[in-house]
Amino acid sequence: MLAIACDHGGYGLKQEILGYLDAHNIAYKDFGCDSTEAVDYPEYGRRAAMAVANGECDKGIIICGTGIGISITANKVPGIRCALCHDCFSAAATREHNDANMLALGARVIGAGHALKVVETFLNTPFSNDERHIRRIELIEK
Ligand code: RB5
Repeated sequence: MLAIACDHGGYGLKQEILGYLDAHNIAYKDFGCDSTEAVDYPEYGRRAAMAVANGECDKGIIICGTGIGISITANKVPGIRCALCHDCFSAAATREHNDANMLALGARVIGAGHALKVVETFLNTPFSNDERHIRRIELIEK
């Protein structure tokens, strides 16, 4: 189960991503927001991050205008490794090296077509399970 959330700045891109998830039969829980009316991104980032941290969802995608505020928020939640990625190389690397469990996107930074490729890469790249990456992730948790 994938957690997804956005603020008003990310609402349009979230709709595009929901269309992608529906088309690929990927199950998700949408934690809002539900329009382009201004809201506070920390609330929505927190909701999705908590769902991943407590095991209700195994990964999450969060979107705001830049992706910055909402990723900072998610990374405050213990157990969350949220990567802000606007390219496929970073999306693959953060899965392989960091076992990132959340992806943040900035809807004002990246076009929807490119963002969907980043989402696809993030969702389809497994963790390397490499001993040195496991050690480094354990150090993050400490
Ligand atoms: C909202 O205007 C904007 O600040 C927000 O979407 C995000 O970019 C914050 O980091």
